[in-house]
Amino acid sequence: MTKLRSVTLNEKTQLLSELPILSGTIGPDVVDIQSLYQQTGMFTYDPGFTSTASCSSSITYIDGEKGILLYRGYPIEQLAEQCTFLEVCYLLLNGELPNADEIVQFESTITMHTMVHDQLTNFFKGFRRDAHPMAIMVAAVGALSAFYHDALDIKSKKDRDLSAIRLIAKVPTIVAMCHKYSTGLPFMYPQNKLSYVENFMRMMQGTPCDDFVPNPTLVKALDRILILHADHEQNASTSTVRLAGSSGANPYACITAGIACLWGAAHGGANEAVLAMLEEIGDVSNIAKFINKAKDKSDPFRLMGFGHRVYKNYDPRAKLMRETCHEVLTELGLHDDKIFKLALELERIALEDEYFIQKKLYPNVDYYSGIVLHALGIPSNMFTAMFAMGRTVGWIAHWDEMIADPEQKIGRPRQLYTGANKRDVPPQHIKRS
Ligand code: ACO
Repeated sequence: MTKLRSVTLNEKTQLLSELPILSGTIGPDVVDIQSLYQQTGMFTYDPGFTSTASCSSSITYIDGEKGILLYRGYPIEQLAEQCTFLEVCYLLLNGELPNADEIVQFESTITMHTMVHDQLTNFFKGFRRDAHPMAIMVAAVGALSAFYHDALDIKSKKDRDLSAIRLIAKVPTIVAMCHKYSTGLPFMYPQNKLSYVENFMRMMQGTPCDDFVPNPTLVKALDRILILHADHEQNASTSTVRLAGSSGANPYACITAGIACLWGAAHGGANEAVLAMLEEIGDVSNIAKFINKAKDKSDPFRLMGFGHRVYKNYDPRAKLMRETCHEVLTELGLHDDKIFKLALELERIALEDEYFIQKKLYPNVDYYSGIVLHALGIPSNMFTAMFAMGRTVGWIAHWDEMIADPEQKIGRPRQLYTGANKRDVPPQHIKRS
């Protein structure tokens, strides 16, 4: 790649004066470059989309410098304190919080869709028992389109709403089935008298041999985890859902694409990686060694659960998650938990270290979520599946918003080509018949 020259300030001013500047409700203005190629014959180059707004959206707002996260305008702290996960789902999907009647109706509709087609259980049996639950989840959620094709007209709002309900209702059932399958235990059918989170916990942790009695503190903690993961603007998995959906693919296929993207260690896989890292560090006496490894450019090790593409301040979700972590460990009599103490100390030392201060690296949501999930009895290979369960509503809300957007077209980025110039195949290279 050759850098020819930089655009001069004059050229920049000239260019910008010819391109429209758009303003949102809050946040930075954007330069509308849709006509740039036509006007100049040049593309923009932005690997990782660090300066690119890929769409307009009214769902979630993040101010990464100030550590602010709003769902439909409401601060995440207030939603986490005052609302249930299903109220937040309603908010993300409909733009407003539900009133008393609306939430009763919504909860009942979700409850009535929690069972999956019974033939889907056969699908699970094709997998090895030691398959990673995310591998099974990707396949099982993708397979839903083969079972629920009665409502796949993406132009119909009614069909889109039904798919959203089905996904929010059935993903917890599938997540629990992935866990039960990998442990060799029988699948648990949903139970309608339980709340969304209680039902999930029973499907995950209950067995047909015993009555499952949910612990209210742990139910509240899991509900909060789901709220904190429900949406996060145009992150990698949400952008993947939008890109997949831009071709007109069905919602189950699009959410599956999001789940696959979330699986990566730099995204949703980080909570699993944080716990593994804390276990590897093992003791506070080893913290300095690992901090040095994280700072060493020749060492690929990174402090998992630290840093974020958007937050250059404390991730507001991490603060809430740390609070939940305290509550859960106290409830379970684990306040002296070695891993939690290690996490607190590692955080304290990293936040005082010049490298982390200068690069604005703070704990992200995944730093404490692994410890909470572990305390809740969720095995670490299920952590990313739990994240996917919370994020399903965000993905589907963005997918729906995109389909309804009159400006929507198929996502098709361009590139800076750095390969060979045009050349001919050598004459001695003859096609073998
Ligand atoms: N430990 C050590 N150094 C780090 C870390 C970290 N966790 N994160 C970033 N850095 C350093 C990088 O080495 C880089 O240094 P340089 O400028 O000297 O080259 C600088 O900080 C910027 O990092 P980038 O990777 O360029 O930042 P980016 O915005 O692309 O990455 C990411 C953000 C992927 C989250 C990164 O911070 C990371 O890998 N963190 C650990 C994994 C993690 O916790 N992921 C969860 C993200 S939150 C979520 O998905 C819910």
